Amino acid sequence: MTPIQETIINKKTTGCPIWLMRQAGRYLPEFREIRKENPDFINLCLNESLSSKITLQPLKRFELDAAIIFSDILMLPYGLNQKVEFKKDFGPQLGLLNLNNMSKIDEVDFIQKVYPVYKSIKKVSEDKLIKNKNVIGFIGAPWTLLVYMINKHSPKKELIKNFFDDEFLINRILIILEKFLKLHIKQQIKNGATVIQIFDSWAGLLEEKDLPNYVYIPTLNLVDYVKSLNIPVICFPRGVKNYKNYCDIVKPDAVNIDYDVNPTSICKEINIPIQGGLDPKVLLTDKENLKKEAKRYLDIFKDHPYIFNLGHGVLPETDPNMVDYLVKMVKDY
Ligand code: CP3
Repeated sequence: MTPIQETIINKKTTGCPIWLMRQAGRYLPEFREIRKENPDFINLCLNESLSSKITLQPLKRFELDAAIIFSDILMLPYGLNQKVEFKKDFGPQLGLLNLNNMSKIDEVDFIQKVYPVYKSIKKVSEDKLIKNKNVIGFIGAPWTLLVYMINKHSPKKELIKNFFDDEFLINRILIILEKFLKLHIKQQIKNGATVIQIFDSWAGLLEEKDLPNYVYIPTLNLVDYVKSLNIPVICFPRGVKNYKNYCDIVKPDAVNIDYDVNPTSICKEINIPIQGGLDPKVLLTDKENLKKEAKRYLDIFKDHPYIFNLGHGVLPETDPNMVDYLVKMVKDY
């Protein structure tokens, strides 16, 4: 078993494994070099030779326990024929949502459109750098994808007005998403993903009363699906106020916490393996502070199954030497 499987499946508490969200990205000069030549982000994700190379870049530098495939949660609306563009200094911009066209898409159309993602996973999983490590496949949770598909861009602090007005539209999209997210999960696993992470980056936008319909029930369906394929599933409901409720209802195999979560309280409240938490901004400070903050998480979780990670993705302005320092520190703990 890999270190991550030991933690999640066997609940092992020694030898803390580590990987980082956005470990393959703009803070690495070797990524920026490829990116400069490839201004279209979606096309880059669909270039299996480059995307597999990018996925492995951080593993060449650091002793990480997993590779997370270089792709994006928005490949799903892309696969459903909604236009997706990434604008510099703005983030994603989605095009019109045409429910009639989307309803006509079948599994073959979808797989054809995102096929290079699966080929890239296969390539990565066959690489010798992956020995005794995991390849993490991922999806966006239905709620977070719905937010992008209707809102068309990152909501920052709030959703567009009238977001919930068209209930028929929302329910139809949720049905379509469930079908194609399952397909996307299955194809990733078939091609070598050995863990699935579900990113619900905008879970924190909802009030408690709306969580069952938009977060708990749709995510539980997918968690059960991943479990039925005998693959561990990690959920990251960023910003939800009550992680314990979330875990009791959705029952992921492990949960990633964000940096606003108090690690001491969550460690007592939640029984399942925990991942992450450290504020990515700590990597922008100095080594002494990084050591202090990382050690705080390691100490708190020393008797709890714990996978070291951050409370959100590595920031583009991060110095790779700080990541190197962090990985070595966790390995030497
Ligand atoms: O290393 C990894 O973590 C794997 C690859 C990965 C990316 N996006 C690559 C990426 C993963 C797992 C994601 C998930 C993702 N994408 C999420 C969930 C996690 C989170 O960040 O909350 C979300 C909400 C998205 C949508 C998305 N993609 C946004 C909002 C942005 C723009 C913000 C930004 O950082 O520029 C992206 C672009 C994106 N996805 C980049 C990368 C490396 C930056 C693209 C670039 O090079 O310009």
